[in-house]
Amino acid sequence: IMQDIDFSKLEITLTKTPKTMPPKDDLLFGKHLSDHMLEIEWEEGKGWGEPRIVPQHDLVLSPAAQCFHYGMEVFEGLKAYKDEEGKARLFRPLLNFQRLKKSCERLSLPSFNPEEALKCMRKLVEVDQKWIPEMRGYSLYLRPTVVSTSCKLGLASPNKALMFVIMSPSGPYFASGFKPVSLYATTEFVRAWPGGVGSCKCGGNYAPTILPQKIAKEKGCNQVLWLFGEKNYVTEVGAMSFFVVIKDKETGKPEVITASLADGTILPSITRRSVIELVKSYPEYTMSERDCSMEEIVEAAKDGRLVESFGPGTAAIVVPINKILYEKDDIEIPCEMDGDCGRDCSMEEIVEAAKDGRLVESFGTG
Ligand code: COI
Repeated sequence: IMQDIDFSKLEITLTKTPKTMPPKDDLLFGKHLSDHMLEIEWEEGKGWGEPRIVPQHDLVLSPAAQCFHYGMEVFEGLKAYKDEEGKARLFRPLLNFQRLKKSCERLSLPSFNPEEALKCMRKLVEVDQKWIPEMRGYSLYLRPTVVSTSCKLGLASPNKALMFVIMSPSGPYFASGFKPVSLYATTEFVRAWPGGVGSCKCGGNYAPTILPQKIAKEKGCNQVLWLFGEKNYVTEVGAMSFFVVIKDKETGKPEVITASLADGTILPSITRRSVIELVKSYPEYTMSERDCSMEEIVEAAKDGRLVESFGPGTAAIVVPINKILYEKDDIEIPCEMDGDCGRDCSMEEIVEAAKDGRLVESFGTG
């Protein structure tokens, strides 16, 4: 009988050389790793071995390992925060392990019980809880990963695999900080297509996006907006989903639009799902998962019906989008946060807030 992941068999070996948390300014996304990692090996015929929490270490793999040759790698991204009582909290983590299981199944990597994997990861977060940053906008980014460690160059399903979870205390994902981003809507490159693996979180979906991203930078944009089909439907941004809010032509009611998951080209992002669930709880908005062409966005911008646009994602959080470059023209998008997120504030506004009991705090930076 094949062994599934079993939390009750978890073994813990603590590091003898714990590190200290780097200063806030150095917590660039993914730069530092916490003291420990989780690893679980899988072997054909046996199944999953004992889960182990061990000091964070390098891996030793054969150069013939399939993950180096055929993109046999899938991953997840989720975050741990501290709540007001100082308790570690994960954001909807079971959804990540359920998605990881689906990615594994599509990429011929071994399947597993998501609940048990999650229990092991919760223990890892508990062991390394001092690595959860407490500053606003900061968190401990968790990266569950499954790779084929099979040493065979034939293209076939693996006979050995490794699941691991590493963790990185991280601030803003974008080097620019927590600021609005601009997008380059490319008509030259395609991220995913029906029948492909766009809905899987596999490494192979990401490497090909770096060159187009460089081109976007050269054109003065921060990220690529991926389009699909003859009508140039908006899909996603690659490191985040894509949402646009457009007022209905007749009623003026704002419709929050994002691409549907139906054709398998869109990553079923957990932040995307959370935004959809939240928007549905506000009757003043219509929430639509549907096709939306660039033409529709251009027209809405011309008519003054373009309300806003944003990109939700685990690493990105929810990023306002202030511009889309499409076929040589800039579409300016209203964005409450201006470039430096600052705004005018009169003494009167402060006096009034103080009277109403709405004045929370004040501070100077330098
Ligand atoms: C995440 O948001 O967790 C991601 O995986 C995006 C990745 C490209 C950093």
